[in-house]
Order: sequence, then C-alpha cells, then structure tokens
Amino acid sequence: MPEAPRLNVNRFLFGGDYNPDQWLNYPEVLKEDIRLMGLSHTTAVSLGIFAWATLEPEEGKYDFRWMDERIETLGKAGISVVLATPSGAKPNWMAKKYPEICRVFENGIREKPCGRHNHCLTSPVYREKVKAMNTQLAQRYASADNIILWHLSNEYGGYCYCDLCKAAFREWLKEKYGTLDALNHAWWTGFWSHSYTDWEQIDWIDDTLNGLVIDWRRFMTHQLCTFIDNEAEPIRKFTPNVPITTNFMSVFVDYDYNEVAKHLDVIANDVYPGWHTKGLAGGESQTALEVGFYHELMKSLKPDRPWMLMECTPSVTNWAPVSVPKRPGVHRLTGLQAVAHGSEAVMHFQFRKGRGGCEKFHGAFVDHTGNEHNRIFREMAELGEDLEKIQPVIGTMDHPQAAVVFDWPTRWAVEASPGPRNEAKEYVETARDWFRAFWEKGVGTHLIDQTADLTPYKLIVLPMGMMMREGFAEKLNQWVEAGGTLVGTYLTGWVNETDLCYTTGFPGPLRPTFGIWAEEMDVLPDVETQNVVTSAGVKGLTGTYAARQFCEVIHLEGATTLATYGSQYYAGSPAVTVNDLGKGKAYFVASRNESKFQDDLIGSLIEELGLPRAIASDLPKGVIAQKRDRFTFVLNFNPAPASVTVDGSFKDLLTGATIAAGLRLPAYGAAVLEPLA
Ligand code: GLA
Ligand code: ZN
Repeated sequence: MPEAPRLNVNRFLFGGDYNPDQWLNYPEVLKEDIRLMGLSHTTAVSLGIFAWATLEPEEGKYDFRWMDERIETLGKAGISVVLATPSGAKPNWMAKKYPEICRVFENGIREKPCGRHNHCLTSPVYREKVKAMNTQLAQRYASADNIILWHLSNEYGGYCYCDLCKAAFREWLKEKYGTLDALNHAWWTGFWSHSYTDWEQIDWIDDTLNGLVIDWRRFMTHQLCTFIDNEAEPIRKFTPNVPITTNFMSVFVDYDYNEVAKHLDVIANDVYPGWHTKGLAGGESQTALEVGFYHELMKSLKPDRPWMLMECTPSVTNWAPVSVPKRPGVHRLTGLQAVAHGSEAVMHFQFRKGRGGCEKFHGAFVDHTGNEHNRIFREMAELGEDLEKIQPVIGTMDHPQAAVVFDWPTRWAVEASPGPRNEAKEYVETARDWFRAFWEKGVGTHLIDQTADLTPYKLIVLPMGMMMREGFAEKLNQWVEAGGTLVGTYLTGWVNETDLCYTTGFPGPLRPTFGIWAEEMDVLPDVETQNVVTSAGVKGLTGTYAARQFCEVIHLEGATTLATYGSQYYAGSPAVTVNDLGKGKAYFVASRNESKFQDDLIGSLIEELGLPRAIASDLPKGVIAQKRDRFTFVLNFNPAPASVTVDGSFKDLLTGATIAAGLRLPAYGAAVLEPLA
C-alpha cells in the first residue's frame, strides 16, 4: 500500500473556520475578509464546514459557484484551504424527506432535525447523500492546488439508538462472538437473568451488563470508522495526494480515538480550555497542563507525523459558564504551546463572527465592528507574525522515551463498573497527574494505548490499568524482561477485554510481572488519608507521602518493598514495591498518592534512565519547556516575569536575541531557542 499522504506545508497553518456561505449577500464583507486575512498573517482557512444547504439547496441541485469563487480568490491571496465535507449539519429538506437520517435517543424518541452533529451513523440514505456530496466536491476541486487538506465533517460525536444502528450492532456482535453462548459468557448475562436466547433480544443498551456497554462503545467507534471510510472514498479516488483529517475533541469519551486515527491521514484537535477561570492573579499552569496533556495525546495518535490544532478561540467561547477573555499575551502563548507540542497549525473557530445564530458572541479574528482596530485582532496578527519567525520548526518531531498509558476501553471499563469507589475514580485526571511529573520537567512523554508499539520507550507508566486487552499483559511483560521500566498502580489487572474479572488474583496476568498479589482495596472516605512511609535507604523517595481514596492491600510475591502503609489494619504492609524481571524493573504503586510522590519517583527514574530533558535545570513553577528536535520552547504561564537557566548559547527565534546562561521571560512570555553552532 502506498504511504498515506502527509500534510505538506512550508509555513504554519494560521487562520480559522471561515463561513462566507453566511455572508453571500454582503459582497463588501467578502472583499474585506481577504484584506483582513492579509493583515492578520492568515495562511489557511477551513471552508464549508456547515455549508450543505448552500451547496445543495434542493435535492440533487448543486450550486458551487460561490465556493469556486472563494477558493480561487483565496488562492490568489496566497491562502491555503482546508476544505470541509458538510456532513456535520444536514439541510432541512433532507431531514424532512428522510427522517431516518436523524438520530434516535436511548428512550426511542427521534431527535428533531434541528441543531447539528446529530445524524445517524448507520443510515444508508445519509451515507449515500454524504458520498454524493463528497464526490461532487472532490471531483470539482481535484485541481485546486491551494486545497491542502480535507476536513471531514465536524467534531463527530454521540450515539444513535435507532433500529438501523441496533440491527448493525447485532451483526457486529455475530461477527465478533460467533455464537450466543460465547456472547452470554463474555457479558456474564446470567446476572439478573439476562441471558439471550435470540440475537433479536439484544435491543437495549442495558447498563447493568458492563461488558455490553463497553462493546456498544466499541461498535459505535466501528460505525464511525466505516462512516469515515464512506466519506473518504471519493476523496481518496479523486484527490489521492491530499491528506484527510477530522477535528477530534481531546479526551472525548464516546469513541476510541486510537481506532479512529487509523482511518485518517492527519490528526487534528479542538481545544477550548477555561483560561483565568480560577482568578486572574495566580497563573495558568493548571490550564496549561490540561492543554499540554491533550496536545500530547493527539501527538501520540500518530507518533510519526505532526498533528494540527484545528480549533481554539481567539478570545472567548460563548458556551462556558464564564469565559474570561484571555489576558494580553495569553493567546499567543497558547498558540506557541500547541506548536511546542508538535502542531503544524494554530487554527481557530472562527475567522469572522456571524450576525445571528447561537455563536454570534463567540470569539473570532474579526468582530462585529468588522475592522482591524481592536486588541484581539492586533494580538492575532502578532501571533501570525511570530509563527512566521519560527518557520524552521516546521516538520520537526520529537521522539519521547517515556509514555503514560491512556487507553479508551480501559477508561470505559473503569467508568462503566460501579465500584470499587464511585466518586473520584478520575481515570483521566490520574493519567494526567502522572503525565504532569514528566511534563513539568520538560521530558517528552507520549500517551499511548494498549495496542501501541512499546519498543521506543524506556519508561512506561500504566495508571489504573483495570482492563487487560488481548495480548497486552504478555507484550508488557516481554518489554520489561527486555529492559523496560514499568510503573503500575492500584486497580490494575482486574478484568479482561470483555470486562470479566480475573480469577487468578489481581493484578491478573501482571501478577508475576509486578511480583505482588493485591488482596483487597481499601477505599477511604474523603475525610481520611493514609500515609505511605518510605523504607530506609530507598533512592528517590523520601519521608512520608499522603495517600487518599484508593489504597490497595498487597503482598509480596518476589518484589521488594520501597514504602509501607503507616496506618489501618494493614499498617506496615507494602505500599510501593519494585520487582526485578529479566533486564527490567516493574514498580507497583498501590495507592493514590499526593503529587509529590509522582514527582519524586518519576524524577529519580528520569535521572536513572537518562531521559532527555528540554532544559537541564529545574524550571520555575508555571514555566514549561518542550523540545521539538533541536528547538526548545520555553513558555511562562505566570502573570509575572520568570528567569530560567539555560545550558549553552541559543538564538531566540522570536526576538532574534542571543541567549547564553540566563533567559528572562516577561509575564506570559515565550522563547523559541535554537542552539548556536
Ligand atoms: C466546536 C465546533 C465549532 C464551534 C466551536 C465553538 O469546536 O467545532 O463549530 O461550535 O465549538 O466553541
Ligand atoms: Zn441510527
């Protein structure tokens, strides 16, 4: 098979969703758009995302004139086009004529044809209509050389419970399990008398069968993948060299993005963090962490290719309870953060605010005054200029040697099963806190799932690895034996791929890997904490750490104790252990510990394993350093200046200044350092 086309750009993509279809009666505005794009250093726009009703006002009657004209005009102005397929919102005529394209809620009621992002993923009519539209687009614009990327639909999301979807689910199950006996066993349907004696009885997504719920999510992921393949077919046929993407939503729970990624050429993501929501004085390091985690997750979905930030807001959203306008400099910092984490784009929603509709108060390059004379526009133009200054960064990658496992099916399993504690399980937050320990030290860290190739990594953290998918435990065990360092935590190795509990003692197939047996889970009420006390002479850990919520009671089976519990009926029993296995080591952290524990353990492993840091010295709080090949991004998320010690001499691509030894960053300031030969 030929290699999937790559995003081939020699400048950062900077721009936003562009909806001229809403302004066709305002020719003067369309003209202004091009001038304002020039002034703001816009290099690309996403066109036609919600334009179906304009492109096909009546069934089978297409009108592409306005789009022809826009693509050509944009091309003459040197602006690249990310061309969308319009399936994210369906025209009224279509919903009226073909009700089956509208989604059905779980209670069986069909959704009204309003809104968007709510079509059935199975409906043959919708798939046919989408394919016909995409064929028109791909054929018509096959030779438009400023179209650099296809943007399928918009933020695919949600489930449909219509009869078509359920029938397809049954077919998928037949394929997967072969017999009802196998399915009944896999879902443990004897529970509450739920055994199926006919496939047709699988008609409700019964959330008392956790295995069923997880399979439903897998099936909906599969339906999305085939929906995408159907969208992509004419595009791949007529424009085989133009890559295809869609915009993801970070840790969106509905679909396993690792699976969906296989059907795309480029990963793109939308990120709308709540900057300043905790006050204006304290700095933005927590929000920056959340965003950094999302960026790294996207990067890891296709670790050999740069990804793209497809949407963020130039200033505010209009849907958050309170969306505080980003303070001067903060948007520039967030744009540079995406690039620091491997993005080839800083794209936005939206270029121009609409006059009406529910997003008219959402941030944009161009507001209702319609000109360039305001703070937001000026800051956008400055960011556009900065991206021009750092062009040498384009195409560079980094190759982390550390990874944290973030696995969709495991998350579904953790969330679907009542127990062992229902409040604050926090699978995502837990993975993020382990990630933080690397990120704050400027150590590149992928977020991988259980299907990933483990060989590039020296250190892997497996937080709350409750589900062991087929083959994962064996792969992990081999990787440790070959020299890998593994850190696992409580709630690992409890269930298999279909959510059946292991009957050989937890952590299931990883019991010999960690050299421990987990007998019981102590679940603490929020008012209680436990102590984890470091044993004498342990390198890296010191003193006592607070633990909360989850404290697994474990026994040694070959491992060595590094720390013990300080209280309760299991006081003195192991809380942190390490097992030597072949050439590698497997650490087990039995409780949910305060962040300092993660800092200390990961910090000492980074040193021991010699994992490269973006900047060797420790960074002030709120200052982040990220590497992209030879370039080091240093970003200050504090509302006050910060100083960083650097090793060697560099050129700051943003200012042109030479930096040796000391780097002084203003409030919310940034530097992009290239070593001087
Ligand atoms: C999403 C959508 C956009 C827009 C923005 C608003 O990311 O993709 O169409 O609605 O949210 O924040
Ligand atoms: Zn459906």
